[in-house]
Amino acid sequence: MRHLLTLEDWSAAQIAEAIAQARAVKAYPDRYADALRRKTLCMVFEKPSLRTRLSFEAGMNQMGGHAIYYDTSTSPAGAGKESIADTVRTMCRYVDIVMARLFKHEDLLEMARYATVPLINALTNYSHPGQILADLQTIEEHKGRLAGLKLAYLGDSFNNVTHSLLFACPKMGMHLLIGCPAGKDYEPAPAALTAAQADAARIGVRFAVTHDAAEAVRDADVVYTDSWMSYHVPKDKAAERRKIFGPYQVDGALMKQARPDAIFLNCLPAMRGMEQTAEVIDGPQSVVFDQAENRMHMHKALMLILLKAAGTLPG
Ligand code: CP
Ligand code: NVA
Repeated sequence: MRHLLTLEDWSAAQIAEAIAQARAVKAYPDRYADALRRKTLCMVFEKPSLRTRLSFEAGMNQMGGHAIYYDTSTSPAGAGKESIADTVRTMCRYVDIVMARLFKHEDLLEMARYATVPLINALTNYSHPGQILADLQTIEEHKGRLAGLKLAYLGDSFNNVTHSLLFACPKMGMHLLIGCPAGKDYEPAPAALTAAQADAARIGVRFAVTHDAAEAVRDADVVYTDSWMSYHVPKDKAAERRKIFGPYQVDGALMKQARPDAIFLNCLPAMRGMEQTAEVIDGPQSVVFDQAENRMHMHKALMLILLKAAGTLPG
């Protein structure tokens, strides 16, 4: 069964296929109006969401299918009454495809062990692959290519979004610079670093982690940041993290270090005055709402690709 659990095990060709499919559903939505007729998606949520929930649900509706929002806080599993294994084996008897937004990545892997239908990672503490696929689509739309571009990511880097960038960007021929504070709680996890280093060496692109924000951003084509207060970070850490990540805030002066035609991305939700200033996210270089829109086109593409691979749709 083909799933989307992390981009670590997706090839450059598979990533390019997803982007091409998302481009097609965006350009010709009517051609896909019945593509998932009578198919059902179960959306398992342990954490909040605006974009992921609405874009999957709207996307499924637009292709003639149905989406069920399943909040684990009202489930037997959430109440400690049912195992992940039994939950997933039951769920797969009702629906054609499942997406899950969970705290622990290990719980997603446990779901995958028992899933008899495709499973999509809709964010764990460790990775956010669907987000980065939509981001690559957005970058390609604005820049016309991926290979040879330099992406600079600033801020919290022990982070799902950063890890997924590490798994995807070098593989797609992009130079990747991470600007973050020193320390294991702020830098990418060792497994993601190793994967990015190996891909960068194989493809011949630059990959580095620096603690100097200006150095990371210099001559970048794409500047990307994410929340300093991810969903799983306790609220009482806000003051401490504001201080630690402060030097990595993307403001107008930092954007000037990038190429004049650089674009600015944030997966959202965003806090103005934290990971970036209002002048940047609301300024002319920001493409954050194109990025948010592309989540829907990419989710439609992923459902089509995985359901075809599962033999549920004609090839
Ligand atoms: N970017 C993203 O996944 O947003 P939501 O948390 O609103 O789904
Ligand atoms: N890193 C963020 C991404 C939100 C879409 C979080 O985990 O909350």
